[in-house]
Amino acid sequence: RLAQYLALTDHSRAGPEVVDQAVRVLETVSAASKDIKLNLESHIFGGCAIDEVGEPLPEKTLQACKEADAILMGAFHNIRFGSSIYTALLVGSIGGPKWGVHAKVRPEPGLLKLRKELGLYANIRPANFASDALLAHAPLKPHVCQGVNLIVVRELIGGLYFGTRKEQGVAPDEDTAWDTMIYSVPEVQRITRVAAQVALSADPPLDIHSIDKANVLASSRLWRKVVTETIEKEYPQLKLDHQLVDSAAMIMVQNPKKLNGVILTENLFGDILSDQSSIIPGSLGLLPSASLAAPPSVPSPDFKPISGLYEPIHGSAPDIAGQGIANPIGTILSAAMLLRYSLGLEKEASAVEAAVRKALDDPQAGGLGLRTADLGGKTSTKELGDKIVETLKGLL
Ligand code: NAD
Ligand code: IPM
Ligand code: MN
Repeated sequence: RLAQYLALTDHSRAGPEVVDQAVRVLETVSAASKDIKLNLESHIFGGCAIDEVGEPLPEKTLQACKEADAILMGAFHNIRFGSSIYTALLVGSIGGPKWGVHAKVRPEPGLLKLRKELGLYANIRPANFASDALLAHAPLKPHVCQGVNLIVVRELIGGLYFGTRKEQGVAPDEDTAWDTMIYSVPEVQRITRVAAQVALSADPPLDIHSIDKANVLASSRLWRKVVTETIEKEYPQLKLDHQLVDSAAMIMVQNPKKLNGVILTENLFGDILSDQSSIIPGSLGLLPSASLAAPPSVPSPDFKPISGLYEPIHGSAPDIAGQGIANPIGTILSAAMLLRYSLGLEKEASAVEAAVRKALDDPQAGGLGLRTADLGGKTSTKELGDKIVETLKGLL
């Protein structure tokens, strides 16, 4: 079986950084199997594409993305390649001080355009990668986080991100700028179905908590009505409740178990709440994501492949990029999601997740596991990658 992988490269030097470790993981899966042959390709995207061709998402990259079975995007930028030649590199980067919020051409619109062009409306961000060993060092108290099982399902190509907007003009008397938050019935229906599929993929099925701001926003009132109707009509076996985003944000740090299940929410709320949810396992560097154009069909015997974009939920971390200390786990777990959702390689995806867990719980490291600096440890990005790859080889 030939699976074509597409990479988005920022021409960052991936060597000591996160994406390189995820590539090693995918290559390990490929090497260990007689049936799976991964063909990795890289393309310019984001900041480096602006530097090279003046736009963040060149047509060639977009076309290649459309043809690929899956896309893995990293999120680190910084150091240029020099003379290294990679035949199979998956790196991407969005954002950074070099292309700040007031720059004329910025990387972020490239990512939004890619999501839109590929119709990736469903963003799945699991924050349920708990390791009890990790919780002891996490920012929240261990008893608050023990037993938390949250998966954020974020609508990704609607809402404030894509409504009409007006920048403040250059005329001195122009003192307004605005963004609009628009949702339609079909947009809410389809993301609700994804949340329901995710809920049903667990045994027993997860509850759904739909998060909105229906006490103020018209788009949230439509959201609440459509979510209710869709679940009642199509998934009557699932439990659904609605919560306002402000108090839900509070509950997420006060007693996150109350939100156990699928958190179904619109684009901006999901962006914010998913970063916040990463504090439960312990760090933003841990969380992966899958952006899909259809509900996932796994785990199930009738797996249907869907292409998708896989990336950690964190950004380019300009404050630590290039130092070789970033946590590669978010990107590695994104590669696991890629194996699961786009290729149906459940066994391999689970092996990658198990290898990550084993590294975090490694008794050789004084019972503390191998930790990068964001988790209070001294392990480098590469050392953690080495350990995960070694462990994975024994599991495949
Ligand atoms: P960020 O996610 O890059 O970093 C926030 C904090 O978390 C920083 O202190 C950083 O060091 C830390 N962090 C992030 N990833 C880490 C990792 N793997 N290991 C250890 N620590 C990690 O957010 P930001 O600084 O607000 O944004 C920087 C740029 O990234 C912005 O331009 C933003 O638009 C972009 N961004 C891109 C993506 C993406 O490509 N999908 C996602 C989020 C932000
Ligand atoms: C994310 C990022 C992006 C978003 C930015 C870089 C456009 O923060 O993937 O969470 O807001 O969706
Ligand atoms: Mn974000």
